[in-house]
Amino acid sequence: MATGLEGKRQNKHDVNGTQRKHPLTVDGILLDRPLNDPKGGEQFVQDAFQVILDEAIRKGTDVDEQVCEWKEPDELRALLDLDLVDAGEPSEKLLERCRDVIRYSVKTIHPRFYNQLFAGLDHHSLVGRYITETLNTSQYTYEIAPVFVLMEEVVLKKLCELIGWKNCDGLFCPGGSMSNMYAMNVARYKLFPEIKKRGLWELPRMAVFTSKESHYSVTKGAAFQGLGTDSVYMVKADERGRMIPKELEEQISIAKSKGAVPFLVNATSGTTVFGAFDPLPEIADICEKQGIWLHVDAAWGGSALLSKKHRHLLTGIERYLVNEIKERPGFRLLMEPQFVNVCFWYIPPSLQGKEDTPDFQKNLGKVAPFIKEQMVKQGTVMVGYQPHGNNVNFFRQVLVSPRVSLDDLDFFMNEIQRLGSDFQPQ
Ligand SMILES: Cc1ncc(COP(=O)(O)O)c(C=O)c1O
Repeated sequence: MATGLEGKRQNKHDVNGTQRKHPLTVDGILLDRPLNDPKGGEQFVQDAFQVILDEAIRKGTDVDEQVCEWKEPDELRALLDLDLVDAGEPSEKLLERCRDVIRYSVKTIHPRFYNQLFAGLDHHSLVGRYITETLNTSQYTYEIAPVFVLMEEVVLKKLCELIGWKNCDGLFCPGGSMSNMYAMNVARYKLFPEIKKRGLWELPRMAVFTSKESHYSVTKGAAFQGLGTDSVYMVKADERGRMIPKELEEQISIAKSKGAVPFLVNATSGTTVFGAFDPLPEIADICEKQGIWLHVDAAWGGSALLSKKHRHLLTGIERYLVNEIKERPGFRLLMEPQFVNVCFWYIPPSLQGKEDTPDFQKNLGKVAPFIKEQMVKQGTVMVGYQPHGNNVNFFRQVLVSPRVSLDDLDFFMNEIQRLGSDFQPQ
């Protein structure tokens, strides 16, 4: 990157204007002052902020703009010219690069982005992120982060209160997968504190229990922590994706009969695909009786649990979508949503009335990929799809962004119908 230091280095004077006795020179460059140019840097930050405001924040949230400007990888590679070079580039070129990064990236803040479990933009938290990045500190100690350490204390206290716990502590984790792995580590340590010193030596076989609908990071965590994926006992879920407590008991006795020591049950509040909430009271009773650590993965549904007062904000707009799905010809709901995940199929005109034919399911499974490919290439909407168990590919619409309006949902449904009208079974 350009530093703007050109022409600034030849000054043999220190900051007070006195000449040094032994000027320090490295590779012909006199090191008598910082090697960057604060004024030029400030100007660059200001210009870049304007680019961010215009290109990312404004256009990124504008329904008349695309959710993404799709390019095939080779074309994008050529367009961006990403080769790392030794020489710096002038500010103008760097600003052009900033614009390109924004232009060709997916706008997850766009009101028609429903592809992941995150979406939308909160302007105030964005500024918080600017500040933390600028201060570029760490949370190790009060000395290095006095304000953030105090803030952390207050937020943790509030979270504990919201959950209803009196004496509790916590830490902020870099995501849901890591939280599940920490939980596994803590539960194991609780049961076998010597693990810290002796490692896995002489530990018995261990057993983790989680529902089939839970996030894959539980299995990944077992591999990561040297327990092996065979240590994970998959508990059956009911038709709505909730762990069945009786099946949990069954799996615990199977594990014990094999000589494994149950040490963790992972329950999920808000599963990734269906948004299902495992029955915590029943699961907690089993864990208490059996002396097993209960971890709740609330990476997705936790926000709703904590916000009883504002629950209607999270679970309101998806009702509209569900009603539309029920009323519009061709749309079929996979199940009544329990959260903001709305799962459904679209049966295009070419398949309507053929529900009983042998190839129907096979063809239906091709509809969502067919529609999605066009959506992404045209940049109009982004939504996820997937198969699940015996269910062929269906759309999973996630309604989490505060910017989504009923008009956006109408557009979304119309777009599926428009793009699906060309689908032909093979
Ligand atoms: C229920 C659940 N747990 C954990 C995770 C993993 O979170 P992350 O991607 O932040 O690691 C996800 C991600 O979608 C999730 O849905």
